[in-house]
Amino acid sequence: MALPPAFLEELRARTPLPGLIGRKTRLIRNGRQWKACCPFHNEKTPSFYVYDDHFHCFGCGAHGDAITFLMRAEGAAFPEAVERLAAEAGMEVPKPTPQAAARERRARDLYAVLAAAEAAYRRRLRLPEGRPALDYLKRRGLSDDTIARFGLGWSGEGRGALAAELKTEGIEPAQLVAAGLMKPRDPDRPEAGLVDMFFGRVMFPIRDRRGRVISFGGRILGDGQPKYVNGPETELFQKRHSLYGLDLAREGVFRGATLLVVEGYMDVIALHQAGFNGAVAPLGTALTTEQLEALWQISPEPVLCFDGDAAGARAAGRAAELALPLLAPDRSLALAALTGGEDPDTLILKGGPQGFQAVIDAAKPLSVALYDFLTEGRPQATPEQRAALRHRLEAAARAIPDKALASEYRRTLLDRLFAAGRRPAPARGAASRGAWKREPPMGVPGIRRLPIDPPAVRLERARNLLAILLRHPVLLPEVEESLASLDLPEGDCTALRSALLAWLGQADVLDSAALMDQLAQGGLEAVAAWVVRPQGLSQAAHPDAQPAEALDGWWHFFGLLRGEAELIEDQAQAQRLLVETNDAVAQQRLIRLSEALAALRGGDPDQGLRGP
Ligand code: UTP
Ligand code: MN
Repeated sequence: MALPPAFLEELRARTPLPGLIGRKTRLIRNGRQWKACCPFHNEKTPSFYVYDDHFHCFGCGAHGDAITFLMRAEGAAFPEAVERLAAEAGMEVPKPTPQAAARERRARDLYAVLAAAEAAYRRRLRLPEGRPALDYLKRRGLSDDTIARFGLGWSGEGRGALAAELKTEGIEPAQLVAAGLMKPRDPDRPEAGLVDMFFGRVMFPIRDRRGRVISFGGRILGDGQPKYVNGPETELFQKRHSLYGLDLAREGVFRGATLLVVEGYMDVIALHQAGFNGAVAPLGTALTTEQLEALWQISPEPVLCFDGDAAGARAAGRAAELALPLLAPDRSLALAALTGGEDPDTLILKGGPQGFQAVIDAAKPLSVALYDFLTEGRPQATPEQRAALRHRLEAAARAIPDKALASEYRRTLLDRLFAAGRRPAPARGAASRGAWKREPPMGVPGIRRLPIDPPAVRLERARNLLAILLRHPVLLPEVEESLASLDLPEGDCTALRSALLAWLGQADVLDSAALMDQLAQGGLEAVAAWVVRPQGLSQAAHPDAQPAEALDGWWHFFGLLRGEAELIEDQAQAQRLLVETNDAVAQQRLIRLSEALAALRGGDPDQGLRGP
């Protein structure tokens, strides 16, 4: 018998693919993903990519998930592959019981009922009775394509019309109740019959991550209360687990879109129509833990985007607090705020995609947003008030289970508290997450370039390169050789480099705090402070940056400082070394140098140095 879909989903979620595949073929980091030489065909250059939930070979077309991988790589049959993965994940494969089989049959039926309802609603939207609804959607700027893509429809006027229509497909009213489309007129008097859940409304199908309809939301045409009605909880639909648009956003994020969480259905639709293909929304409730987990399966740093009103600010604060106990180096958040009572839908109508892109670019990393939230509207004039704030900041950092991350948060939050005590207004130059981006967002004009002369540009690049290492000294062993060979501006930069390399030779742990202490003892405190000064600093140098992001940033600045001729020379040398030693470090270095060269030739040389 087939296993329950929920079991298989969880099994896949609990089986990290890189770990599984890494036993068969050597994985090489490729940004947030991995690549490798394909285990299913013979190749010398890697064209096999490993993502969070699937693998794909661009050479031979092999494609699948953890279960398929085990089946193909070891010739295991489906039940055996499931059995083995479940054992590793500490899960029990459910035994086939008659109840389970019946539940499964019912669920299958329910999906079919909801799919039939979707088709009926969509059909009605194109009939004369759906005309006002269609006009309404068009007036709100939706194209026919968008309407079709989201499966929008018209409920009809109710009075059992849907039940009558679906009867012809063999669907019984009781099934419509189980699907959340009808309900008893009076729960105490079953003989009073059933009424429609939705009538006189534009219908928004709500889908699961795989695109199957699990419920609907319905909007009234124009003004009126309640504005939206959502389907009730059913066997298929649990609000706290679902996100509107998740099926499309998964695809969008896979193709490079940013995962965005907004508040409303119409926001999601307007964003996708404007090319922001990673947008999702909770279903009219505050964000839940389960939804955060679902988001992190797709992206390590979703951007939460809240409406620019008091409710939006409160929702952002709640989400930040909810996330703290779940954070890890690869599970974070960024927060973007709209202003002036706009929501993403109205903002795009008024300001176009550029207007919204600017909001995303100004998103704050969680640590920054958290500080703002914890200090918002509270006076910090007296020592007592500042001590109380300090307690709140420390408590927030303590809520993070990952020890290293918690201490980085504590440091970041307290640094800002101390900085705020010294200057009247806290500097926020490096606060925005968009300050450093590997790829500039699609066609957004208006990125300001400051007229800086070349020595100053070189100095800023060197400062960024060093700042990344001060914040992420764990990168030192990997970049040591390149750092040592680099032509840096004489003076502070070269002195700091010597100190870094000396420290690397004798440090026990490569920890930022220990490094900063050591530099201070060596008389380099002022230089270090200048290097990590937030204005104009790349996001890669932020203490919260993911290690992979920091490393990418480092090679980016290295490429810019090194120059093309030298890079070509380095590359040739690394290639020779790789042939001689065939070890992983040499290979890593060759890949990085090649990427730096490609970026230098094809890229925007001032990426990462946008003016403050
Ligand atoms: P909004 O009122 O911000 O929705 O509520 P919106 O998408 O901007 O609505 P439009 O633009 O007027 O069409 C945000 C979300 O809260 C839920 C819905 O999920 C909505 O998308 N909501 C809102 C309800 O569930 N019921 C309501 O009465 C209102
Ligand atoms: Mn709206």
